[in-house]
Amino acid sequence: VQPALLAGRHVIVTSGPTHEPIDPVRYIANRSSGAQGTAIAAALRDLGARVSFVTGPAQVPPPAGVEVIRVETALQMQEAVAAALPADAAVMAAAVADWRVAAAAERKMKKDGSGRPPELEMVENPDILAWLSHHAARPALVVGFAAETHDVIAHASAKRARKGCDWIVANDVSPATGIMGGTENAVTLIHADGAEEWPRLPKAEVAQRLALRIAEALA
Ligand code: C5P
Repeated sequence: VQPALLAGRHVIVTSGPTHEPIDPVRYIANRSSGAQGTAIAAALRDLGARVSFVTGPAQVPPPAGVEVIRVETALQMQEAVAAALPADAAVMAAAVADWRVAAAAERKMKKDGSGRPPELEMVENPDILAWLSHHAARPALVVGFAAETHDVIAHASAKRARKGCDWIVANDVSPATGIMGGTENAVTLIHADGAEEWPRLPKAEVAQRLALRIAEALA
């Protein structure tokens, strides 16, 4: 049994991919499984936090003992995060789609016989992490993720500054690492005082370390 270091604290966790509709039967998605976000929600719960778990359509089931808010799109995810405020901390582990189709078709799109494929006009989705970092009800601690394939620390540090969050959990997802979709993760925690490289660990242990760090930061 772990000490309830986060008893009385409320933490929002976003997780999983988003699905952006093209028409009623088609969508744009990404390969996020939701594994790391789910493990983080479970680790925060284990330290006694009340967790609002805002999840896109993930491949792993949500943890027990957290409030699960299921969403599909980035816009729905942003609304769900807004509705979950206020919170002491937020961990934005979702792989939010950067773009959505400007106007999803209300009826299934059909081939028109011309041989010309449809053109999809895309618009940018809100950056939920940046929006929350500048929100009037900003949690005291906002944590983002950065999946990079090269120059991990430089890119992640720039991302931290650009988005206005407190910490970035950066990981190298180049294919040779086997991390994307795998059970382990090797992360570097980037904060105002620099970068800490963590050893390669199971995603559950990365989550436990992060949850302990969050408890320390809020204490
Ligand atoms: O810019 P990039 O997508 O690499 O940033 C990743 C971080 O930003 C993650 O924490 C992710 O959850 C968050 N993000 C977000 N909303 C977006 C895009 C990314 O919250 N539209």
